[in-house]
Amino acid sequence: MQPAKHEHWSSGFTFLLAAVGSAVGLGNIWRFPYVVAENGGGAFVLIYLAIVIVFGIPLLMSELMIGRSSQKPPLGAMQSFGGSRVQKLWDAVGWSYLLVPMGILTFYSVVAGWTLDYAFGMGIGTFNNLEEGASARMFQELLASPVKLVFWMTLSIGITVGIVARGLKSGLETTVKILMPALFIILIILVLYASITGDFARSVTFMFEPDFSKITPKLVLMAAGQAFFSLSLGSGAIMVYGSYLTRDISIPKMAVGVAFADTAVALLAGFAIFPIVFAFGVDHAAGPGLVFVTLPIVFNDMGGIGQIFGVLFFLLLAFAAITSTISLLEPMVAELSEEGKFKRARAAIYCGAVLWFVGVFVALSNNILSDVHPLGFLPLFEGKTIEGVIEFLSANVFMLLNGMMVSIFVGWSVKRSVTLEEMGLGDSVLFKIWFLLVRFVVPLGVGFIFYDVVL
Ligand code: PHE
Repeated sequence: MQPAKHEHWSSGFTFLLAAVGSAVGLGNIWRFPYVVAENGGGAFVLIYLAIVIVFGIPLLMSELMIGRSSQKPPLGAMQSFGGSRVQKLWDAVGWSYLLVPMGILTFYSVVAGWTLDYAFGMGIGTFNNLEEGASARMFQELLASPVKLVFWMTLSIGITVGIVARGLKSGLETTVKILMPALFIILIILVLYASITGDFARSVTFMFEPDFSKITPKLVLMAAGQAFFSLSLGSGAIMVYGSYLTRDISIPKMAVGVAFADTAVALLAGFAIFPIVFAFGVDHAAGPGLVFVTLPIVFNDMGGIGQIFGVLFFLLLAFAAITSTISLLEPMVAELSEEGKFKRARAAIYCGAVLWFVGVFVALSNNILSDVHPLGFLPLFEGKTIEGVIEFLSANVFMLLNGMMVSIFVGWSVKRSVTLEEMGLGDSVLFKIWFLLVRFVVPLGVGFIFYDVVL
């Protein structure tokens, strides 16, 4: 393999901070708790954990391997293994690994914008002395305001572009070195507070006592989608971060580390939110509004200290979002600057401009454009707004498809000698289990899930 022309992570630990930063995001803190609540608690958590182990870890290893072995961003990577009769297919997968994160970013930046708006609003006391129903109304007002949505989205894209433009070491590494420890400290403070003042026992039962009758095919689908999204799989982020890994770092260990930390944070987010939600007797199955509608009520009821916790909580969300958005922008920027002829900063700005343009339509599909259903003539897209279509295609369809294709690529197309060397496990039982999962279990399992969701 020719020597890489790009920077590398300073250490295995900084890689872990960045990869965990990518994985830990709105998916863990905003989405996981409400999806758990909507899908019957413990049963969902159990299936989720199983999917992380059987599909998640083997796929994390596969994506890291493609990145490190090729030392290239996704499209370049998929082209560099050579010798395949269906190279056009792998090129298409490479393209998909570049476009999916851009698609995700268009709506992720909008929600990241909400967290900035809330952190700011909490700070200046907008949520103090809430009257009955005010919290729900304020959330609706945010969604109904084109100016606010576009303003905060622009800020979140601007921050992301600014970080990515500075490059791996001074941009990404510096950011995760500051934000990730801050994130963990805030999370621990919130969990401690919730466990002292809230209904902790009920939260433990709720999250860990499975009611097996609740396990349905739909629940399995929801859990798989959540696991893929939460682990940043099928989206170029892990692959491109893998390309900055040096050879001395163990891919299996890193993959287990990322999966473990990501799952721990999702569960901890549950333990920061459910105890106080139960203790205050507010609706725990409030859907996407759980964090943005329910929590402000709770923080308000706490009195003065609630405002502090409110600011902390929404800062936590904003930090988690930023360490994810940078990993979503990185694949395309790396591709344009390493394989194309663009300077990194310029590539970041161009990508940001495209994202912003599409992002405006996504933001406005919450209000002015809510009646626009771009692919509404197809049954699969019926009733979906611009935001709905982009989210469905990127986060459901192509993310799963990418994961499936990459497991087939690694299991069947890449030479076994290459995978053997990259994993560094020797021809051991562990290696054989991983290989078996990647060759058969992951493609069939994900293919089946995909069939069920999409077809
Ligand atoms: N994993 C992130 C989250 O949970 C989202 C993400 C998806 C980030 C894909 C990068 C790539 O919020």
